[in-house]
Order: sequence, then structure tokens, then C-alpha cells
Amino acid sequence: MHFEFTEEHIMIRNAAREFAQNELLPGVIERDTHQKFPLEQIRKLGELGFLGMMVSPEYGGSGLDTISYVLAMEEISKVDASASVVMSVNNSLVCWGLETFGTEEQKQKYLKPLAQGTIHGAFCLSEPEAGSDATSQRTTAIDMGDYYLLNGTKNWITNGGTADTFLVIAQTHAELKHKGINALIVTKDMPGFTIGKKEDKLGIRGSDTHSLMFQDVKVPKENRIGDDGFGFTFAMKTLSGGRIGIASQALGIASGAYELSLKYSKERKAFGKEIMHHQAIQFKLADMATEIEAARLLCIKAAWLKDKHLNYDRASSMAKLFASETAMKTTVEAVQIHGGYGYVKEYHVERLMRDAKITQIYEGTSEIQRIVISRDILK
Ligand code: CAA
Repeated sequence: MHFEFTEEHIMIRNAAREFAQNELLPGVIERDTHQKFPLEQIRKLGELGFLGMMVSPEYGGSGLDTISYVLAMEEISKVDASASVVMSVNNSLVCWGLETFGTEEQKQKYLKPLAQGTIHGAFCLSEPEAGSDATSQRTTAIDMGDYYLLNGTKNWITNGGTADTFLVIAQTHAELKHKGINALIVTKDMPGFTIGKKEDKLGIRGSDTHSLMFQDVKVPKENRIGDDGFGFTFAMKTLSGGRIGIASQALGIASGAYELSLKYSKERKAFGKEIMHHQAIQFKLADMATEIEAARLLCIKAAWLKDKHLNYDRASSMAKLFASETAMKTTVEAVQIHGGYGYVKEYHVERLMRDAKITQIYEGTSEIQRIVISRDILK
């Protein structure tokens, strides 16, 4: 067992770190305040190959491993979790799903621009009445011969207002329950597809989250991913990898808050000395560093299993569960260490605390991760 990164891993991590500091840090507070999507920065991330990191170069990707992805996600998320969620959804949910299960034609037509990052995608599973309970899809895709007629509403869709390509999960054979669900590739120019209201969120305010409406949208049969009825398995397999991305996002939020706290504790004086000399602060920093290291190891372990083509369902849920709880706990402590300064925007940690919360909710709540883990333990 080697606890060492390769030279390539370190190069990727440094490139992501540099990008985050130079391109994302300036303006991150303003984007959060005004809910401004970082489109220019996302396009630059695309040019650098961060939107299709694990996709084969044959389809416009960078051909890197999942460990590189974890390292890049951590660095981007330290600074701007609104940008990193775009990166995570595009890499893990959209590109991976298309590359792994798409036809050659779908890969040429849809995957290439997504992997090259000239456009980005969205993954549409959640509905007003189907969030955690993902088998209860109300959106329907009626088989009309050479096309599907898509009707329904999707909620809380990351990239909903800015994506070009949408992977939409819908019910075709209701009597078959989850075995009758399909995954369809929908583009924003299809008649009957409307982008609904933008959500005004607690955190990741720079990312854009929308409801989407489909009214008699005709989706060609060739846009179905996999066999008829494969949609639910597609969603579950895709989310399993997605959870490594969100775990890494949570890891980045936590380590960003920790690094800011460490720096602050060396500068801020109270009771005649820098606060790092007070044991109350030292113990907080020790707990933060320990939990972040554990979260990082869980992320890397899940990524390593995925790269080795071994089962990573339990590992990705463990990484997401632990890293997201760590992000929440660490960011709350970071605000505490910063005191009054932590409660105002310019010190960044209040934003990180708001951003951390979503990592316990999307791509499966902490409770869903516990279900996945316990079922795997008990099976
Ligand atoms: N791989 C393959 N198949 C899987 C699977 C996996 N990882 N997990 C489950 N399945 C299969 C099961 O084997 C089962 O198939 P069979 O009936 O053929 O055996 C089928 O799926 C149904 O599974 P369950 O009986 O376990 O279903 P359930 O209703 O009890 O729930 C669940 C399973 C794990 C709770 C699932 O519903 C779930 O993950 N829910 C959370 C959904 C979620 O993460 N939503 C996030 C939205 S996307 C998002 O947030 C993106 C974004 O914008 C950032």
C-alpha cells in the first residue's frame, strides 16, 4: 500500500489550486451575494480539461483517473463550491453516465462537447414528490414508436438554467415500477421544454438551481440511454460515482475553512497572544485536521476502488456521509474561531458554512447514505 500521489496527481492538484486562487477567488463573494453563475470561469475550467476529467481523449476528455478528480474537486471547492458543483455534476453524473452507457452516436454527438467543456450538462432525477424516494417518478416518457412523449416536472436541478444537455429520468411502464423507468437525453431546444423558477438558496448561491417543465416533449428513441427500463439502474450507478464528487466537494469546503482558521489563529491576538497559543483553539484545529484527513482518505479509497473497477457503492456513500458531516462541523467551528469576523462575508467562512449544508442533502441525504451503507453491510 502506497500513501503517495503520483507526479501527475500533484500536477493536477497544483493546476486546480492555481486556477482556484487566480480565477475563482476574485469575485467569489460578489457571485454568492448576487447569485451570479460563474459562466466565464466554468468555460475556462472546460478549456483546461476539468469538465471532462475522466473521459477518454477519444471523446474530448482528459483521460485522468478518479483520484485526480478528487484532488481537483478539493482544490476548487476550497474556494468556490458553486463552481465545483458544476464540475461535479458534469464530470460524474453527465459525462460518466454517457461514456459508460451511451451508444457511439450519443458519445459523438452529446458527450464530446460536454467533455470538452464548451457546454455543460444537468442530471434530472428529483421531482416535487420524489427526492430521496427516487423510484416514485411521476414524470412520464410514453413510448410513441420512434419517440418518447415526455411530460412532468423536475425540481432542484443543478445547472438547470445554464445547461445545454439534460439527462432526464422518467417512467415509461408504471406497472413495472422502477424497472419501467428510462433515462433520456434532452436538449434545451426541444419544443415543450421550459426552464422554471431559479431557487434562492442558502448556499452554493453562485450555482443555478431550477425546476424544469416538460410538456409533450418529443424525445427521439435514439436518445434513450441503455435498454428499455434501464433508467433507474442508470441513475443509481451514476449517483454512486457522483457521491465521490460531492464527498470531494465537502472535503474541499472543510479544508478551505480549516486553512482559513489556521491562518487567522496565527494572526489574531487575544489575551496578549496569538489565539493559536490558546488550547481552546489548538484542540479545535486538531479535531478539524484529523477529521479532514479521515474524510480525504475515504474519498481517495472510493476513487481508488472505482479506478480499479471494483465495487465502490458502499465506499462512495461512506465518503459522502463522513465528508459532508465533517464539512458541516468544520465550517461551524471555523466561524467560531473567527468570532465576530467569522459572521461577516469578507472572511469567507460564513459562506463555506452555508455551502457545507447542501453536501448533506444533494445526491442523497446523509440518511440515504446510511441506508446504502447499512444495506451493503447487512446483505
Ligand atoms: N447500482 C445498481 N443498482 C442499484 C443500485 C446501485 N448502486 N442501488 C440500487 N439499485 C437497484 C436495486 O438493486 C434494485 O433493483 P432490483 O429491484 O432489480 O433488485 C433497485 O435499484 C431498487 O432499489 P431499492 O429496492 O434499494 O430501492 P429503494 O426504493 O429502497 O431506494 C435508494 C433505494 C438507495 C434509497 C435510492 O432511492 C436513492 O439512492 N435515493 C436517493 C436519490 C438521490 O440521490 N437523489 C439525488 C438527486 S440527484 C442530485 O442531487 C444531482 C444534483 O443536482 C447535484
